[in-house]
Amino acid sequence: MYEFHYRNNELWCEDISLSEVAEKFGTPLYVYSKRSIIDHCREIEKVFGEVDHLSCYSIKANSNLNILKIIAAEGIGADAGSIGELHLALKAGFSPDKITFSGVGKRDDEIEFALQNDINLFIVESEEELYIINTIAAKLVKIARIQIRINFDISASTHPYISTGERHNKFGIEQMYAEEIFQKALQLKNIEVLGIHTHIGSQITDPETFIESAKAVVDLIKVLRNKNIQVHELNFGGGFGVQYHDFVKHELLPTDEEHVDSKLTTVKLLEAALPVLKASNTKIFIQPGRSIIAHTGVLLTKVLYRKTTSEKTFIIVDAGMNDLIRPSLYKSYHQISPITIKNSEYEIVDVVGPLCESGDYFALNRSLNYSERGDHLSIFCTGAYGYVLASNYNGRLKPAEVMVDGDKYFLIRDRQSFKDIE
Ligand SMILES: Cc1ncc(COP(=O)(O)O)c(C=O)c1O
Repeated sequence: MYEFHYRNNELWCEDISLSEVAEKFGTPLYVYSKRSIIDHCREIEKVFGEVDHLSCYSIKANSNLNILKIIAAEGIGADAGSIGELHLALKAGFSPDKITFSGVGKRDDEIEFALQNDINLFIVESEEELYIINTIAAKLVKIARIQIRINFDISASTHPYISTGERHNKFGIEQMYAEEIFQKALQLKNIEVLGIHTHIGSQITDPETFIESAKAVVDLIKVLRNKNIQVHELNFGGGFGVQYHDFVKHELLPTDEEHVDSKLTTVKLLEAALPVLKASNTKIFIQPGRSIIAHTGVLLTKVLYRKTTSEKTFIIVDAGMNDLIRPSLYKSYHQISPITIKNSEYEIVDVVGPLCESGDYFALNRSLNYSERGDHLSIFCTGAYGYVLASNYNGRLKPAEVMVDGDKYFLIRDRQSFKDIE
């Protein structure tokens, strides 16, 4: 399940030493564990037992084709947010009847592409979108199956940029218009209305939030059924938070006392909501992204320089915010530790990248084992929203990606070269 671990003082992924991988392919470098990806998929599936359901991996979290193929082979579905992700899902081998299409601003050509490829369903986010899908489906002589995303005005207590279920957010249709929109959709000839969708945000760590959200959807289903509106499917979205602190342990690493063993697991969050969801007597959909892929990847980087000022010690590394933007964008925490632990001499440092912004950092005022030029560091839990958010800002080439499978490893995406930025 968790495949990054220290053997003596060396960091390994499955049966491969990460020093070896970093030396071979250079840094910055994303490295993933195939075994961990499979285990994460299976762990989520196990929670459902016999419950009629479809888990659709949220491709936006990590869309590397090799990773998608591993997930598709597990037999689960995929949720796409663009034509590019639809294309990748199909190419990876997800069965079209297990592909859903989310997103607040689907273009006409994207809707057409989805219909032509007979994907399972669209998640509709506005009345206007509903009519456009109907029109395009009529033109193609198709029936578009849909779930309607409802905004229940529930706060996800997460970073505002990844909170999506409040009234002021652009997502979904306000709960007070739910009945009206269902009635309108039911009149449309080329639309088949299957259910309700909700997704209130990402990296949600409180089970109570999921329970509140589950209750809101189930209550609405009751209201709709009382009005003779059939709801067969309940899509609960994603957002299951993962543990970022103290992910990897070693006696010579500093611990993060405040967060030690937060005992946060996707299973617990899902288990909290599932009894409520089951009461709806619907087919249950979820769209997990981060909870499948975050723990399965690391970003390896090399120390370029140490720099000490009257205020701070900076560890300047060769990865930057263009490779992993989560700390800069969301002030996210990622554990960082040396690939080879040489000492337990801790110092308080800022781990920063080479870009031209003060926001280009991975850790501020962090206790880290003494590191110097040439040392490799691992930035943990970067499988989700890592590479997918990478850019060429500052003319930097995007990093390579490597998959570890037991005692083998191979490139699953080349490092970019000059021609990619020309
Ligand atoms: C509609 C939808 N479903 C699922 C997800 C996946 O969320 P997470 O990666 O937190 O599971 C997202 C991402 O925010 C989303 O927008």
